[in-house]
Amino acid sequence: MERLLRPAYAEVDIGALRFNYRQIKELVSPAAVMPVVKANAYGHGAVETARALETENPEMLGVATIEEGTQLREAGIKSPILVLGSVYPFKNFRVIIEYGLTPVVASLAAAKALEEAAEGSGKKVFFHLEVDTGMGRTGISPQTAADNWNHLKGFSHTECEGVFTHLACAGEDLRETEKQLGIFRRMLEKISPPRYIHVLNTAGMLTSSGAGFNMVRPGLAIYGLCPDGVRRQDYPFKPVLSLKSAVIFLKEVPGGIKISYGGTWKAPRKTLIATLCAGYADGYRRELSNKAGVIINGTLCPVVGRVCMDMIMVDVTAASGVRTGDEAVLMGSSGGVSVTAEDLAGICGTVNYEILTGISSRVPRVYRGL
Ligand SMILES: Cc1ncc(COP(=O)(O)O)c(C=O)c1O
Repeated sequence: MERLLRPAYAEVDIGALRFNYRQIKELVSPAAVMPVVKANAYGHGAVETARALETENPEMLGVATIEEGTQLREAGIKSPILVLGSVYPFKNFRVIIEYGLTPVVASLAAAKALEEAAEGSGKKVFFHLEVDTGMGRTGISPQTAADNWNHLKGFSHTECEGVFTHLACAGEDLRETEKQLGIFRRMLEKISPPRYIHVLNTAGMLTSSGAGFNMVRPGLAIYGLCPDGVRRQDYPFKPVLSLKSAVIFLKEVPGGIKISYGGTWKAPRKTLIATLCAGYADGYRRELSNKAGVIINGTLCPVVGRVCMDMIMVDVTAASGVRTGDEAVLMGSSGGVSVTAEDLAGICGTVNYEILTGISSRVPRVYRGL
């Protein structure tokens, strides 16, 4: 903390991360858990998050890109790492093999290319087959998977270790989800199931936990973020990341004074205005202008005027005894008051995923309980 020159940082509570992981384990037992740590672990810091989770012995970790996988290997992460994103171009299979990552195969052509790359490397390579049951993004069709199963199983340098699909409407449309699960189950009946069968993300895990596959792939729940349609008070997971800044400037303005670009906010009366040093370049989005609140001394204080690139202004008239240097919680909890990622996403008309992954690289991550 002493080395933070600018008080704008994301505080990551490793205790909450471990708590969430253990809760998930208990919820889905005996199924295994593959925490998803893609996109810099949803903004929490991939290496630190993976290191903390690795001590909990997860079955494997999930990333989206090869670069995310190689970053974790270079940081010394030993757990199996599944690269969930479809590999393109196929020559990239060589990098996956070199780094001991587990690739996803989403077509017969990819399976063949992986077999050739594996043969060239002299290593036996395990892969997971992605089946498209309704997401419409990547994945082999269930029919092609079933018809070619013996072919896929028959390669000599590769082995299908897992088969999976991704839900398009988990938590949103149970009928659509059931339809996808039905398609997947019917395909499974036609093959000899490999070691891992996984489908459920966080929303799926909560709404279709009886779906009976032997591994789950939660992202949101690991970070304590609430899927759409789930009430925070009913949610068993704790938010892991708080976005914090401090009052760096304080002034009293008379009624009628306008604040920030465009003069979109005018003081209705004598007002105490605090300036905080975080803005949209830090991931505190411009849509939050004149709409969000920041917790200062246990009071939710309204953001006034437009969010700037590096700063925001807040009306702290109602908060008691505010002084420069006081902590400001832009996202998180303090003194019994909370601003959640879901609150900010609601204002911005987006999802909590985007709020978290949008916290920029210039914001230092400060780890508690590592
Ligand atoms: C293939 C796949 N599995 C699992 C997840 C984790 O989803 P969630 O964060 O909703 O739990 C994602 C995230 O988008 C994904 O793309």
